[in-house]
Amino acid sequence: MDDLAARHDDLIAPVIAFATDIHAVSAEGIWITDVNGRKWADFACGTAVTNLGHNHPAVVAAAHAQIDKMIHSGCLVRYDSVVDIAERLRTVTPPAIEKFAFANSGAEAVEATVKLAKHTTGRQGVITFRGAFHGRTMGSVTYTTSNAKYRDGYHPVLGSVFVAPYPHPYRWGMSADQAVELSLNELRLMFKHIVTPKNIAAFLVEPVQGEGGYYPAPPAFLNALRSLADEHGIKLIYDEVQSGFGRTAEWFATDHYDAKPDIMAMGKGIANGLPLSAYGASREIIDAWPVGAHGTTFGGNPVSTAAAVAVVDTMEGLLPHARDLSKHAFERLDDMAERHRTIGDVRGLGLMIGAEFVSDRETRAPDAEAFQHVRAHAAERDLIIISCGSDGNILRFIPPLVTTREELDWALDLVDQGLTSWETR
Ligand SMILES: Cc1ncc(COP(=O)(O)O)c(C=O)c1O
Repeated sequence: MDDLAARHDDLIAPVIAFATDIHAVSAEGIWITDVNGRKWADFACGTAVTNLGHNHPAVVAAAHAQIDKMIHSGCLVRYDSVVDIAERLRTVTPPAIEKFAFANSGAEAVEATVKLAKHTTGRQGVITFRGAFHGRTMGSVTYTTSNAKYRDGYHPVLGSVFVAPYPHPYRWGMSADQAVELSLNELRLMFKHIVTPKNIAAFLVEPVQGEGGYYPAPPAFLNALRSLADEHGIKLIYDEVQSGFGRTAEWFATDHYDAKPDIMAMGKGIANGLPLSAYGASREIIDAWPVGAHGTTFGGNPVSTAAAVAVVDTMEGLLPHARDLSKHAFERLDDMAERHRTIGDVRGLGLMIGAEFVSDRETRAPDAEAFQHVRAHAAERDLIIISCGSDGNILRFIPPLVTTREELDWALDLVDQGLTSWETR
């Protein structure tokens, strides 16, 4: 441990987990440079944020230009960048999402979407889906069920939040159709036995479950939620905090599906590293939310929104490259799954890819040790990768969209070699 790590551990609350001990001094593109000049490839994207790579020049320039002009508004004065980003979001989000508001973190955006749904419907119940991650504030942790440890010590969490199963076909050892059927059946039973739909303000759902294990929703599942929402006057909220801004090689995961949300939460990649999140809905929904029913001091900060404008302007040109990278990554991981018994499943959308490591393909027993072995193998060779899933056994493969084909192959070679050394240990 160098001096910084000791000072860090002395003064920074240990509750905030850091994925590595790397003492970083700068970062550019896919690379983070540490205090000794060693370069590390960040295939975790600062936990699914720097989709354009670190310190993208267009984002840096936009932030600098805004910093020199005005850093803060605090909702006292109006300014260009917040309108500029809303105008752009209007063109890249689904047509029903017409008006926007801004916050600082994903959790805040999610909480705001739920408050909005409650206010518009006049109902107080919320249905969330098991395995979800929506954040760690007291409201959002109530919606989060990717791991029970996030709620340890905080009970009782909020009331009238009902958790339904999210289809996990691989983990349940069944087809996507069967998993959807099982999940919807449980939802129908919930309406019959636990809460009637007329009490429910919103379905809050990740179109691709992220932290919970990189499970893309089978289209039939979202279609059914859309129909149930329409039938019962429930608002359908998509949490696109992790799956948005090019991560799935489209603007949003929503673009892969016919079923569109009424309300949408965004964050993480929106400003490529500056703190910002956003949420949007139709004019009808959002204009009925009275002035002062929600608010923020820092949300929509001028510098963060200026950076976000640069993100949107840059992202469009990168999506075709992201699709090529995605196709190649899936081909290579599928090939690895044929050669390595440790890979039980490869799934995802675009560049939001999960490879699930198991110790036994028959029982699908999660193998977190195998993941730790591969992670260490990669780290020794300058590659940072992270996991997802409640068992810590799923390789969360989320390269920056600016990764070259050669860099992608280098990273995948390291995963391949790591698996070989695990299986021949
Ligand atoms: C889908 C999703 N929603 C919400 C959040 C919470 O975001 P934040 O950590 O910015 O509060 C996350 C963070 O991982 C996420 O993946």
